[in-house]
Amino acid sequence: MIRIAVLASGGGTNLQALLDACAAGRIDGRVEVVLSNVPGAMALERARKAGAASEVLPSRGVSDRAAYDRSLVERLLPHRPDLVCLAGWMRLLTPAFLSAFGPAPATRGCPRVMNIHPALLPAFPGLHVQRAALDYGARFSGCTVHFVDEGTDTGPIIAQAVVPVLAGDDEAALAARILQQEHRLYPQAVQWFAQGRLSLEGRIVVVEGARGVPAPQLHPWD
Ligand code: GRF
Repeated sequence: MIRIAVLASGGGTNLQALLDACAAGRIDGRVEVVLSNVPGAMALERARKAGAASEVLPSRGVSDRAAYDRSLVERLLPHRPDLVCLAGWMRLLTPAFLSAFGPAPATRGCPRVMNIHPALLPAFPGLHVQRAALDYGARFSGCTVHFVDEGTDTGPIIAQAVVPVLAGDDEAALAARILQQEHRLYPQAVQWFAQGRLSLEGRIVVVEGARGVPAPQLHPWD
């Protein structure tokens, strides 16, 4: 059973997917603590309902990012997390945070911080990415679970799921279609980590026993 810390700034539907997967035994782990930088974030309520500890460390007006990240580490360490999951965490993390959760002997070279991003990286990193995919005219989008490094959504990719961009989609429709896949993909990736099936070779994440992907789909408009 791994001990999981979740950092969330908002609604926390991905947090909920992780909580539900732990409760259902689909993740061999437990969410020990949820920390938000936004007081009153819905994610905190979800934590309380699930019996996880909740912590708030407001970031508004904080300009020293490294100092903030050191306080974050201080708040998390007492909960002894094996893995930190970002779930709608709207701040870039500095080395002050990432170095505290770098690779450990038990993680086979893998860092101990994961994120979920609502696009197929390396396309569309950053914010407002469903809008960006629509404006670009992409025919497919999706979501990516990746380990976190210092860049914006640049860390090693663990898993991806693809959704079509359909004629007539607006940002909300595309975001909802992607979010459905996020809720499936994130618990799966965390379970792989919990099972010790992930290792890192260069920037390639190897998933032990992965069955590979099915044949590519035709374009959904065909
Ligand atoms: C998700 O789309 C996630 O990929 C992105 O932020 C959103 C958070 O949604 N990083 P929620 O708070 O989990 O509902």
